[in-house]
Amino acid sequence: MSKGRVLISGGAGFIGSHTAEELLRAGYEVRLLDNLTPPVHDGNWPAWLPKEAERVLGDVRNRDDWAKALRGVDAVIHLAAHQDLLPNFSQFFHVNSVGTALLYEVIVAEKLPVRKVVVASSQFVYGEGGYRCEKDGEVFPDGRDPQRLARALWETVCPKCGGAIQPLPLVESHANPRNQYSIAKYSQELMAVSLGRNYCIPSVALRYSIVQGARQSYRNAYSGVLRVFTLQMMNGQPASIFEDGGQLRDYVNVGDVARANCLVLESDAANYEVFNVGGGHSHTVLEFAEIVREVLGANVGLDVSGEYRVGDTRHSVSGITKLERLGWLPTKRPRDSVSEYVEWIRGQTLEKDYAAEALAMLRQTGALRKAG
Ligand SMILES: NC(=O)c1ccc[n+]([C@@H]2O[C@H](COP(=O)([O-])OP(=O)(O)OC[C@H]3O[C@@H](n4cnc5c(N)ncnc54)[C@H](O)[C@@H]3O)[C@@H](O)[C@H]2O)c1
Repeated sequence: MSKGRVLISGGAGFIGSHTAEELLRAGYEVRLLDNLTPPVHDGNWPAWLPKEAERVLGDVRNRDDWAKALRGVDAVIHLAAHQDLLPNFSQFFHVNSVGTALLYEVIVAEKLPVRKVVVASSQFVYGEGGYRCEKDGEVFPDGRDPQRLARALWETVCPKCGGAIQPLPLVESHANPRNQYSIAKYSQELMAVSLGRNYCIPSVALRYSIVQGARQSYRNAYSGVLRVFTLQMMNGQPASIFEDGGQLRDYVNVGDVARANCLVLESDAANYEVFNVGGGHSHTVLEFAEIVREVLGANVGLDVSGEYRVGDTRHSVSGITKLERLGWLPTKRPRDSVSEYVEWIRGQTLEKDYAAEALAMLRQTGALRKAG
């Protein structure tokens, strides 16, 4: 017997397709809402989407599309989003913020019996997050000074004394979004928790870290390290390392993210809460590049060019204690995710050099700059 029907917005995407499989395995019926937007898609539903999942072509900016997709639905996993770090600022708010507002608007207006909404947020909402200063204790820098970045001074400094500081794990009580993507993502979280509570629609927001695994679109302009390093090394090119490669990150496998989505969907204790979904271990970007090189068996160098992404954070590693208390643990390490991605990408036909195109686009729009 079916456990109910779950609508996944952005269901044709990377995390959506894995979440659909996880839900089907768990006994749910699944409906996918997606507008198959470029550059993520080539205009077609990806071949790997489960056949049992119903498909609705529609746009989360369109009220009627939401109304059609929400008919007969028990729960929603809202993943559709505009990503990238390009300066088309308004699109982040049209798709991510207005799309989420419309979801709640339609549920309320049509008195739909939706029992749960899970909203995808991002580790990016932390901005620089918290640091420990020997002199001033715990501090929350507002982001890095553009003038220091232009001089290749990468580390964040204490906002009070200007001295050296050590990064702390990111914890859910904090948020300090600093770019178009994270401001829009944070607005989605606030809507989930506040509108959800006001209108008795149990809702949860999940702050994913860097999610990795098979089926991650290689066409986006934003430079996910796994995608860029893999494509470059497969072409015999050195991997482009931004800053000095000393940035700390945590990487979470897409299968673990799909399990987290299902867990909070079923857990009443998760209602109106925000959770990190992270990998549980920190790695420098250089260490990560080394993993990709080993998995590919590539004999290429690393290009540490002093380029940096505007608005990027120096160190971002999520604490996962809160979600662990609900019974979730990451089961895979970055090497597993890299292996899964490499196996998948080797089976794809790449029409052009997507990594070079993405980097050129970031440079052209000023999103990627060079120090010195
Ligand atoms: N992948 C990551 O590392 C990561 C990290 C943090 C948060 N997230 C969040 O997780 C969610 C899913 O990300 P993903 O990596 O699967 O991305 P993705 O690009 O693979 O999937 C997003 C899907 O949303 C669809 N979409 C975009 N605009 C739409 C619109 N207006 N109407 C309907 N559908 C639309 C796209 O066609 C795509 O299929 C997003 O909300 C993203 O912000 C992802």
